[in-house]
Amino acid sequence: KKRIAVMTSGGDSPGMSGTVRAVVRQTIASGCMAFAVYEGYDGLVKGGDMIKEMGWEDVRGWLSEGGTLIGTARCAEFRERPGRLQAANNMIEKGIDALVICGGDGSLTGADKFRDEWPSLMEELVTKGLRSKEDVAPHMHLNIVGLVGSIDNDLSSTDATIGCYSSLTRICQSIDYIDATAFSHQRAFVVEVMGRHCGWLALMAGVSCGADFIFLPENPPTENWEEEMCTIVRRHRDMGKRKTIVIVAEGAHDRKLNHINPKMVKDLLSNKVGLDTRITTLGHVQRGGPPCAYDRMLSTLQGVEAVKAVLEATPETPSPVICIVENKIVRKDLIKAIQMTQQVAKDIEACDFDAAMKGRDAE
Ligand code: F6P
Repeated sequence: KKRIAVMTSGGDSPGMSGTVRAVVRQTIASGCMAFAVYEGYDGLVKGGDMIKEMGWEDVRGWLSEGGTLIGTARCAEFRERPGRLQAANNMIEKGIDALVICGGDGSLTGADKFRDEWPSLMEELVTKGLRSKEDVAPHMHLNIVGLVGSIDNDLSSTDATIGCYSSLTRICQSIDYIDATAFSHQRAFVVEVMGRHCGWLALMAGVSCGADFIFLPENPPTENWEEEMCTIVRRHRDMGKRKTIVIVAEGAHDRKLNHINPKMVKDLLSNKVGLDTRITTLGHVQRGGPPCAYDRMLSTLQGVEAVKAVLEATPETPSPVICIVENKIVRKDLIKAIQMTQQVAKDIEACDFDAAMKGRDAE
């Protein structure tokens, strides 16, 4: 029986637990054995009880749970070869040679490197006397399938990452709450949202909540942004608006990459526009909590597709990442998706914002 392990890695996101449920159950339904690696790459390096066989009942109710019930961690040891050798040894001990990883671009890059090195890791296990030739012979190829779990929606090649719509929903609910108190006191609020280097959450929250102004990393405001923002906010007030909402992505900066923080925006609204202004940093509230319906659907359909991809893979197939494009669940080349994502970060660093915006738009 083929043995397939599932792992969550990097920052948690709503829908990760549903992904584990889908992978475990599809694996069992396909006549294979399912395993879960607890605490991300850390669990892979530690082995033993951290790699557990999973039954159908073990994941009951996981679809609607937030975060990841098998845990996640940032693991320094896996970044070094001895850590990966240990991880490979632990997998061979359990007879596992297929790994479905749900995480962000960093976690998925690590996974593909592991697959690349796998044959040489097998050889090293034998030369070091840790495993016999017979032990490793049936497992000379490692199968990796990526699923993108992140609230940031920052991976190229997919329209939505698992968790981003739950986070967006939470941000919108929070801004609705803020709206009520802002309206009552005719106040301005500067709301900082997450997203690391990606402005998707800030942009979509701005559209969904009718914000007055937004700050995004990929499309920084004009050089004269202080004046521009104040003029727009004043105009909205002149039109009768009783509240002001400005959304700042945590990675926001000006066109010279100077960080734009909520305090700077607050001072402008207070001192230049004369508004009673408060700052709300939403923080991890936007990452926790139960997944929205979309993420339950996405995690289930993509988890099922990941197992199908494992079973159809050959040693020649490049590692796939499971994506959603125009409402279809599709497989894409994992490495190409990561390269495209990293190119956007490079374009931002080089202040080439037109290229960064095109990169975000690209499939
Ligand atoms: O990538 C997900 C994310 O929540 C980002 O939006 C944010 O920048 C980062 O993780 C926060 O990481 P941590 O929880 O380690 O502070």
